[in-house]
Amino acid sequence: MNPFVLHLECSACDKTHSPRQLINLCPCGKPLLVRYDLSAVQAKLPQKIQGIRPHTMWRYRELLPAGNSQAPISLGEGDTPLVDAGRLASSLGLSRLWIKDESANPTGSFKARGLSAAVTMAKALGAESLAIPSAGNAGGALAAYAARAGLQAHVFMPRNVPPANRIECEALGAEVHLVDGLITDCGRLAAQGARVNGWFDVATLKEPYRIEGKKTLGLELAEQLRWRLPDVIIYPTGGGTGLVGMWKAFDEMRQLGWIDSKKPRMVSVQAAGCAPVVRAFQQGEPRCGPWSPATTLAAGLRVPRAIGDFLILDILRHSGGTAVAVTDEEMLAEAGAMGRSQGLFVCPEGGATLAALKKLIRSGFVRPSDEVVLFNTGSGLKYLHLFEA
Ligand SMILES: Cc1ncc(COP(=O)(O)O)c(C=O)c1O
Repeated sequence: MNPFVLHLECSACDKTHSPRQLINLCPCGKPLLVRYDLSAVQAKLPQKIQGIRPHTMWRYRELLPAGNSQAPISLGEGDTPLVDAGRLASSLGLSRLWIKDESANPTGSFKARGLSAAVTMAKALGAESLAIPSAGNAGGALAAYAARAGLQAHVFMPRNVPPANRIECEALGAEVHLVDGLITDCGRLAAQGARVNGWFDVATLKEPYRIEGKKTLGLELAEQLRWRLPDVIIYPTGGGTGLVGMWKAFDEMRQLGWIDSKKPRMVSVQAAGCAPVVRAFQQGEPRCGPWSPATTLAAGLRVPRAIGDFLILDILRHSGGTAVAVTDEEMLAEAGAMGRSQGLFVCPEGGATLAALKKLIRSGFVRPSDEVVLFNTGSGLKYLHLFEA
C-alpha cells in the first residue's frame, strides 16, 4: 500500500475503514474514497510531477494506492493525447477546444485506467477471481488486466452488448456471462456470483480503486494544460466514475498547491433514451430515479441508475455545470464530424460530447471565450456495427 494512504472514507457517512483489506461498499451502502496524507505528499513532492516518470498513469504514484515496492498491473494505460481541435473550434466560434482522446488506452477505452488500479489492488490484497458487470468496455479492460495479473475474470454483460466487447473478453480469457437485461441486472448477478463463489466484485464505485485510476484523467489534463484547468469539461456519463474521479483529482491538486482554485464547469452528457442524471439535475433532485426503458445505441450510456448518482449531481451543481441529453442520431452524426475534422475515429459516447457542446453554445451556456475539453472515452473500432454505411 502507498504509505501516503491514510484510510478509506465513506462518501456519504464519513466513516473510515482500513485500506488493508478487500472491501466493497461502506456498510451504509455507499462508495468508499481513498484519502491521502496530502501534506506528506507535498513535503516529498514540492514540485508538480515533473522529470523522468513512466509515461503511464502510474507517473502519479504518490496519489495512487499501490505501494512503492509493488509493481502495478500495467499495460501502459494513460498519457493519452490532448488533441487541439482547432478546426472544430473555429467552425464553432470558440477560442480553444481540446479532445482528450482516451481511445489510445490499452483495450481502446478509458476503462483501462480504473481497472489497472482496481486489479493491482485486488491482487495485492489476495483476490484470485474478479467479477464485473459491464456495458462492454469495462469488461474488456478487466479481462486484459486480470490476464496480465494471472487472475480469473467473470464478466456479466447484457446480451445485446456490442460484439467487439464480447469477443475481446473471450479472447483475453475471461468467462463471459450474457444476461437478458440491463447493466443493473448484470450488477445484481455479478454481486450474487461474487457472494456465492468468493469472487471479488469490481463493479464501478463498488470498490475504492477504480475511481483512483479514473482520477488520473484529471491529473493528466492539468499536467497537459501546464497546471491549469479549462473552463468547461464535457463528459459522457453512465456510472459517472470518470467525472467523480476527475473532481477528486482537482480537489487533491488544489490542496497540494499544484493548481489554483478555478473550477471547470462540469457537464454530463447522456442519451435522450437513458438520461437519469439530466432529469434529476433539471428537477433539482439530490438522487436519480431509475430510468425505464433504457434505450440507446451508446452502450456505455445505457445505465438506468448509478450508485454514485448523488456524487455526480453534487459535482454538476457545485461546479456551476449542467447536464444535457442528446439523441442517438445526434451522437453518431457528431462522431462522424469529429472523425472528418480531426482524424479521430471516436465512439458514439465521444460524439455525444460534441453534440452537447453544440447545444450548449446555442443556449449560451458555453461562451466564445470559453476553453472547452471534450472526452472521447473510447474507440469507434468497438462499434463498427453502428458506423457501417
Ligand atoms: C465508451 C464509454 N463512454 C462512457 C462510459 C460511461 O462511463 P462512466 O460509467 O464513467 O460514466 C462508458 C461506460 O461503459 C463507456 O464505455
